[in-house]
Amino acid sequence: MAKVSSLFTSGFLPNSMTVSIEASPVPALTTSEERIITLDEVSWHDSYGDCWLIIYDRVYDITDFLAEHPGGSEILLEYAGRDASVAFRGTGHSAQAIRALDRFCIGELPMHERMFRKPGGFNLSDLPE
Ligand code: HEM
Repeated sequence: MAKVSSLFTSGFLPNSMTVSIEASPVPALTTSEERIITLDEVSWHDSYGDCWLIIYDRVYDITDFLAEHPGGSEILLEYAGRDASVAFRGTGHSAQAIRALDRFCIGELPMHERMFRKPGGFNLSDLPE
């Protein structure tokens, strides 16, 4: 519990975010998500020509999407090589935008580096499948 409250006080999570640390079922993996990619590896892909980011523990290569993003490329580049879960959620993306994520998924974080998709992880009511 101490761990969760420190995330709020550090400003990492907004106070309005509904989280629960109760054990939650972890959705089954699909083929595109089988590759395990570490935070360290993601951090190397942090430029306009090679841009990866993390949303809800999944890794996305959005290099080809930067120019297409309705919110512009600059905002995405702020999260290049980093976790963008809170930013993605905070900007209120539509169900269509959540579905669009699938196109870019190249893998997911190892279990010990995840925040959401792990037993006892943050359980967001609208976490995409
Ligand atoms: C791969 C990841 C992302 C995808 C597929 C995506 C997709 C989209 C889509 C389809 C829209 C149009 C509105 C909607 O349908 O919700 C949108 C708008 C927007 N996105 Fe993203 N987005 C991504 C990541 C992000 C991130 C990390 C941010 C960071 C804050 C962000 C910020 C915005 C903003 C500010 C808008 C509103 C643009 C406007 O209405 O003027 N997006 N995004």
